[in-house]
Amino acid sequence: MSTSHPDLLDRHRKVLPSWLALYYDQPIELVSGKGCVVTDAEGRDYLDFFGGILTTMTGHAVPEVVDAIREQAGRLLHTSTLYLVRPMVELAERIAALSNIPDAKVFFVSSGTEATEAALLFCCGARRSNQVLALRNSYHGRSFTAMSVTGNRAWSASSLSPLQVSYIHNGDRLRGPFAHLSDEAFNAASAADLRQVIETTTAGDVACLIAEPIQGVGGFVVPPDGFFASLKAVLDEYGILFVSDEVQTGWGRTGDHFWGYQAHGITPDLLTFAKGLGNGVAIAGVVGRAELLDSVKTNSISTFGGNPLATAAALANLEYLFAHDLQANAREVGSLLLEGLRRLQGRLEVVGDVRGKGLMIGVELVEPSTAARSAVGVAPGAAAGVAAGTGAGPGGAGRPSARAASQVLEETRARGLLIGKGGLYGNVLRIAPPLSVSRQQAEEALAVLADALWVVDSARRS
Ligand SMILES: Cc1ncc(COP(=O)(O)O)c(C=O)c1O
Repeated sequence: MSTSHPDLLDRHRKVLPSWLALYYDQPIELVSGKGCVVTDAEGRDYLDFFGGILTTMTGHAVPEVVDAIREQAGRLLHTSTLYLVRPMVELAERIAALSNIPDAKVFFVSSGTEATEAALLFCCGARRSNQVLALRNSYHGRSFTAMSVTGNRAWSASSLSPLQVSYIHNGDRLRGPFAHLSDEAFNAASAADLRQVIETTTAGDVACLIAEPIQGVGGFVVPPDGFFASLKAVLDEYGILFVSDEVQTGWGRTGDHFWGYQAHGITPDLLTFAKGLGNGVAIAGVVGRAELLDSVKTNSISTFGGNPLATAAALANLEYLFAHDLQANAREVGSLLLEGLRRLQGRLEVVGDVRGKGLMIGVELVEPSTAARSAVGVAPGAAAGVAAGTGAGPGGAGRPSARAASQVLEETRARGLLIGKGGLYGNVLRIAPPLSVSRQQAEEALAVLADALWVVDSARRS
């Protein structure tokens, strides 16, 4: 095996699609990991603060999870759902109870995209409608249907759609028409927008709204608590179902809650999950009201969905999560990171916004000369209001700088820290380490981020 990154990059480019994006000017191959640290093929260690896109939930090479995978793999990998699968039943019981949805059932698949597909199938079938509501700037996967509810042009490769989709306001407190409002008024305006969209762009009998409680790919956009309660009150009037896409927000990542929807005092009809559950082993699914899951009248199957290997891995992973109370760790270490980053926001103009919950933290970068400066602690809406009309950028929040985000990624990588990026404008740093990250690792990451942001801030001001 060659250990040269450039050589592997050449081979990658020859045989893999050009749109399969790689991070960094000089992409790296990660070959091993332990906890929150990964090692590349040239022997360099990094703190992993993106966890393979929020998927390494409990950490790399966690012995309890690895042992469960080994044990199951050594016995039986696969049987299909034509036979009883004990770990699948156990995991379904566990997730049904955790969902807080009364009398819930669970259907397992292998990816978040398939979970989106399944949830939409259940809702559209049950409501006999192909009309769906989604949030602007959403991401729900890469299949034809999942793309059709993805409200971000950069990820929607086709305008053709199997569904009739109407997009509503996405809860962005920094940019957009409602950014200057108080949280309460913001939620009310978003609900009014939803009502108007239903009444003007649909035939009324809409199947469902699908939404991420915190938009992931969209740049960790955090709506005010209660936002989805305001929307759900309107949905209920029309009998429209609510699907919470918890692919990124699930399993305690947001710290205060196990699921993202819980910040809003509501219960969804269906909930989709993926990523963190298998800690890297492919497992995803839908949990929700039994009558919706049972509403499919034909045969249906997922060959790999919930197979013995995936469900054994997921059970061990969940066990570890609870045994170590990683939700509490996400809350505590997440606040430490958020506070540290907010201190940096006060000092560096390139930092336009710091937001997030638990270990799902977004840092929005802007061109320094366009930044709407505000005292730290001033609500983002208020900051945007102060700058309104200055031409500073959408919502007056500073002109988004995708370039700065790419530069910060290079600078952090050079200092041994891996983070992600995203957002509608590609200008949001995404910080989302495994939920087992320690305070000390968070302090180390903060020091690296401070240096990297300072370098980029200075470069972009000169
Ligand atoms: C919120 C959300 N839903 C669905 C998906 C699709 O998941 P997958 O890539 O496993 O198909 C993603 C992937 O990033 C996601 O972030």
